[in-house]
Amino acid sequence: MCGIVGYVGTQAATEILLAGLEKLEYRGYDSAGIAAIWEGEVDCVRAKGKLYNLRSKLESVQTPSQIGIGHTRWATHGKPEEHNAHPHMDTAMRVAVVQNGIIENYRDLRDELKAQGVVFRSETDTEVIPHLIAQFIKEEIALGNGDSELVFFDAIRKAVNHLEGAFAIAVISADYPDELVVVRQQAPLVIGFGQGEFFCASDTPAIISHTRAVLPLDNGEMARLTPLGVEIYDFTGRRLKKQPRMLNLNPTMVEKQGFKHFMLKEIYEQPGVVRASLDAYFNPDWKADDTQGTPINLGINPELYGDLEQIQIVACGTSWHASLVGKYLLEQLVGIPTQVQYASEFRYAPAPMTSNTLLIGVTQSGETADTLAALAMEKERRQGKEAKYQARLLGITNRPESSLGHLVPNIINTLAGIEIGVAATKTFTAQLMAFYALALDLAYLKKTIAPIELEKIIAGLRQIPKDIEETLESQEKLTEHLAHDFADTQDFIFLGRGINFPIALEGALKLKEISYIHAEGYPAGEMKHGPIALLDAKVPVVAIAMPGNVYEKVISNAQEAKARDSRLIGVTPVKDGEAGEVFNDLIPVMEVSELLSPLLTVVPMQLLAYHIAARRGLDVDQPRNLAKSVTVE
Ligand code: F6R
Repeated sequence: MCGIVGYVGTQAATEILLAGLEKLEYRGYDSAGIAAIWEGEVDCVRAKGKLYNLRSKLESVQTPSQIGIGHTRWATHGKPEEHNAHPHMDTAMRVAVVQNGIIENYRDLRDELKAQGVVFRSETDTEVIPHLIAQFIKEEIALGNGDSELVFFDAIRKAVNHLEGAFAIAVISADYPDELVVVRQQAPLVIGFGQGEFFCASDTPAIISHTRAVLPLDNGEMARLTPLGVEIYDFTGRRLKKQPRMLNLNPTMVEKQGFKHFMLKEIYEQPGVVRASLDAYFNPDWKADDTQGTPINLGINPELYGDLEQIQIVACGTSWHASLVGKYLLEQLVGIPTQVQYASEFRYAPAPMTSNTLLIGVTQSGETADTLAALAMEKERRQGKEAKYQARLLGITNRPESSLGHLVPNIINTLAGIEIGVAATKTFTAQLMAFYALALDLAYLKKTIAPIELEKIIAGLRQIPKDIEETLESQEKLTEHLAHDFADTQDFIFLGRGINFPIALEGALKLKEISYIHAEGYPAGEMKHGPIALLDAKVPVVAIAMPGNVYEKVISNAQEAKARDSRLIGVTPVKDGEAGEVFNDLIPVMEVSELLSPLLTVVPMQLLAYHIAARRGLDVDQPRNLAKSVTVE
């Protein structure tokens, strides 16, 4: 939540900061601001609302300053008003700070500062930081350290040692006009290395068009960026030796490339995501009669699998839905009891585990506070226990360089490429692919499915990219057309069963978050136990009916909804028979095995939500109240 950027170098900072904030707007977009140093003063401009408000405000007042910081906000403490927008400054307006995260002890700090006469201008937790820094600068000077090269840095370090919570901070001061100081404590912060210029940002898309040489800071680290270079320290002031690494990212990945919205582009990228996952996880030469090679290679420690008896998965939102598909696969293909927990619940009521329990954290961003906290808590619980128990922590993430990557010993890297649209689409598909690979790998090693059966499933997976392409081609116009009818609808129900129940949940979530239409996903058989009371002619029902184990059951449940006058939309490859009669509208998908069908059935869910939201004229990529990575509890 919230995005921060910083620049020090030889170019005009403001445009670099604004362009960086544009790439971070997915992290928050209710207000924004920039501070730069010019002619001995901090020049701070802030605006409520989207970034274009800040851009137009800056048109008349841009300076050629070569150092600055910027922020795009997702409000936690204090309403999204200009006076709460970052940067925040000290009383003398010499120090400017941007922060992403939460300062948990800000009330105590604010009370202490107020008692000393400091007047606060905002309701934010962040404002305590510039006031504290200003006090420590004075203290350093009073101690006779005023001439030290590190006076500004040390004052910030001392202030940071008074802060509790999870935060990333960037600071500049008019009195130290060549220094940008950044801090990381449980909120992401990456430093970019250019030629005589240096960048910092909450996420790499903000700096990728300038440099691919990056260094993500670890928790408890700070850096001093000047035009001469970057120095890294820990919070005690000990200098650390760290080298940047080259990012394998292409700047065009963070552009819309002709699509109207990032979300639509990312929906269309899904065949490529499946192909990339197949290439990375599956051995192209393996056949059922192969006794030497292995079908799947996830590059994770084989100790993870050993005498596994139970799997617990923690995740939030869309990642939680992908985990439910994972549970189905792990239980039905491998026979391992698997539970999926909301990370936000788990962290306060952890399930009992044994040394034979594998804990998996699923988070595309690798930065979701609840998921990280749940995993950190479990890691702590396992400290000092058997080595194999400690090793049994696995992360599934699209950002292996994230906090999650630092937290757990094993990672499955999902291969979606950066996702910018706030509503997760291609990262969900990438997570599904990771779960297919994990479940099939385990099933192969534990011999719970025959090699010939495994070969068949893998062959089916190899067809999926083409199937998604055909599904996209046939559905784009159809869902756009259907969306016309639902632009004013107020409630939607999504039904699925078995492996497609999580897809019904995902369909409802997509619709809620981008179109603001109330939607519920249910296991189709559960409708008659209460929710059916909601149905009437005004409540359309989307039912996923893939031939297989539960097809007939879903059709009967759909009949029950039809008898209550609901308009029924079927996501199914079956055009005739009972399906042809019961559904008012059909969204055809290719016929694939039920086991693989979530990779296809999710596509119409995404397209329908997208077109309804676009039809309503809403900001699809930046829906209200949401942020892409939820780094607060
Ligand atoms: C939904 C969505 C959110 C995220 C959730 C978890 O479209 O994007 O529900 O899935 O905030 O995020 P990650 O996967 O980054 O932990």
